[in-house]
Formats: sequence, structure tokens, C-alpha cells
Amino acid sequence: MHDNDTAPGAPCAVIPELEPVPVAGVVPVAQVVAAHPVHGEDFTAKLAAMQQLNARLIFMRDEQTIFEEVMTAAQSVLGYDICAVFLHDPAARALRLRAWRGYDDRVRGFSIPIEREIGLCRLAFSEDRPVYSPDVMADPNYCMADPELCSELIIPIRSRRGPIGVFDFGSRALYAFADEDIRLCCTLVDHMAISLENLRLFDELASTRDAIILGMARLAESRDGAMGGHLDRICAYSRILTEALSRQGTHARFVDEEYVETITRSAALHDIGKVGIPDEVLLKPGHLTPGEYEIMKTHAGIGGATLEEMVNRHGSFFMLKMGADIAWAHHERWDGSGYPRGLAGETIPLSARIVAVCDVYDALTSQRIYKAAIPHDRARDLILAGAGQHFDPTVARVFTEQAGEFQRVRSRLRD
Ligand SMILES: [Fe+2]
Ligand SMILES: [Fe+2]
Repeated sequence: MHDNDTAPGAPCAVIPELEPVPVAGVVPVAQVVAAHPVHGEDFTAKLAAMQQLNARLIFMRDEQTIFEEVMTAAQSVLGYDICAVFLHDPAARALRLRAWRGYDDRVRGFSIPIEREIGLCRLAFSEDRPVYSPDVMADPNYCMADPELCSELIIPIRSRRGPIGVFDFGSRALYAFADEDIRLCCTLVDHMAISLENLRLFDELASTRDAIILGMARLAESRDGAMGGHLDRICAYSRILTEALSRQGTHARFVDEEYVETITRSAALHDIGKVGIPDEVLLKPGHLTPGEYEIMKTHAGIGGATLEEMVNRHGSFFMLKMGADIAWAHHERWDGSGYPRGLAGETIPLSARIVAVCDVYDALTSQRIYKAAIPHDRARDLILAGAGQHFDPTVARVFTEQAGEFQRVRSRLRD
């Protein structure tokens, strides 16, 4: 690769700003364009391909997929045989290679210290501007590592916080970058930067939301010292059961990847209404009287109504909406004998039917002050016996098929 330690030759073309594309200075634009003429039709086709890529980038939710798509465009649309994406690692004070094309796997793990004296990538990053070297061997800032590389264009990847890395386009031809192509490369990298920034904001928002949801659930759980790892297990069981339902095609109308991810988080909210239950009932070391049990049952409505109010005030975000469904209905029963609303069959939200099985399995296999834990096999049989009365028969059947996985979670996430 470039950017290692070999001595330099003649100066590179440092592009001060994008408008106008300033390859002039060391290499006149006219000379570059003359060497690689770009026809109007060709340029229009490239621009159209860039626009199509941009439309796809908006929906990508994975950094590596974004890199791969952009490098594919750089190769197939713009025709550059070498590409590399470096992102800044502040802790290491280096630009780390994150994706590449045109190099073999030996470059994996490569990084460029940003405090070094020379190097085109370092220059583009630290001065936050594109750098074009039409003849790298004659460039004093080039650090040769690839003897076949002839010209190189490096563009900073910018976020709102400043440059976060560089995109390195390389060619085995001299003067390979016409000024129109430099513009397209800059546009391509800017689109990539916007997608990466959106991804970062999306991840930050999702992490904040998850932290708040889990924090609220843990706060409710903290009032009941006996619950231990109950929340973590309920979330893990819910994922197992929902993924299995999805694989079997049952409930396929509802269950997709987003549904699985959402229930894995929302399940933690099922008992959030317990914050509204008085200590003398919630913490009573023994069986509840009928009156106390009626008070305890109100936790479903308290949690459901609280989350529903959040939905009404702040919008029907899927996770909050599902959390409200689960909190309201995780004690409903398939035959209509549950609480608080006496819903039956498929009028009970699917998410609540799933969490109901997970919650009962965990309660049965957990020790409480007033009861011993029931062995896994016995708990599995009790749930199967409740299919069609307490539980959705399909969910209960799929649970029994996944019971081994439940048991593994049970022993991994102890109280
Ligand atoms: Fe509950
Ligand atoms: Fe629970």
C-alpha cells in the first residue's frame, strides 16, 4: 500500500477545496482532462449510477455494507482498480484500514499513524481536504508501498464533527483522474459520509432508546429483590420463541426481523407497572390474600396505561407500542379467563402471547420466598398442558420444540 516510509520525489497536487475542483497548481486541469477525456454521455451515465447508489445508501444500516457498495461503484462506475477506506481511531491516533479493493488480504489490520511527517492519506485527513497525486512516484508526500500504483486521489470522509477518515482511490495509470471524475469521487465520498453519519445518529438514538427502556424496566424490577436475572431471561426467551415462530412461517404476517428485535427489548417492559404496587403487597413473603392479589393484578393496567400514554404523547413507535401491548396483556389467557381485560384467542396481541409463555416458564423454574423452583421438564409439561387454555396453542407447541434452548438460557442467566 501507499503511506509507508519510502523517500519522496516531486510535489503532489493538494486540492485546497472542492469548488472549483483545484487539480491545477502542480498538474493543470487541462492536462489531466486531455489525458483522460470524459465525454458528456459517459459523465451523465456515471452521474445516474451515482444517484441510484445514493438512493440505496439511504436505507443501509450497516457500515461495512456501505463501504462495499461505494467501493463497488468506484470500481464498476468510475473504473478505479484500487480503493481503500480508512477511519480515524482516536485512541490509536491512527487511520485504520476498514475496507479495501485491489489489495490482497495481507493489508488486513493496516493503519497509518496520523502524526507521521508524510503520507497522502495523513495529509488529506489532517488538512481536511482532497489530495490528488497524478504521478505518485514524483510526489514528495507519497510513501511508496505498492510499486504498481501510479496515481492516487484521497478524499476526507467528513461528518458534522469534522473528518472521520479518508477514502483512497488508486490507479495503475498515470493521470488517471479527470476533473469530472474527481468531482464524482468527491460526490461519492460525500454521499457515503452522509450515510455513515445517519447510521451513527440512528445507532445513537437506538442505543439511547434501549438504555431508557431497560433502565425503566430495571427500576421497576429493583423494587422486587427476588427477580434477579428475570428480565434478561425474559428477553432472551422471547427472542428464541419469536425467531422459531418466524422460521416456521407461523404468524409470518407479523413476525419479521424488526419484530424479533423489538420484542427482544420490549419484553423487558412487561412488569413495569409493578412500580405502582404497594410494598406490603409486592414484597409480601408469602401467598397473597384474594384482596392483595387483586391489587397485584393492577400492575398490568398500570404498566399498559403508562406506556400507552407515552405512545399517545410521543408517537406510535413500534417498541413503545409493543411494550404497551405486552404490559397490558401478558396475563391474558387464550380461553379468555385472564386479566385485566379478559381478552381471548387472537384478540390478545401476539407479543403478549409470546411473553406470557416466557414469563410463566421463568416463574415456574425460579425459586421464590414462598415456593421452590420447578424442574425444567416439569415446567415444560405444565406449559404444554396449558396450550389452548392458558396459552396460544401454536406458541406453546413451538415453545416445547425450543425448550432445550430455554433451559440453556435458564442455566446461563442465573438469579
Ligand atoms: Fe406481570
Ligand atoms: Fe415477569
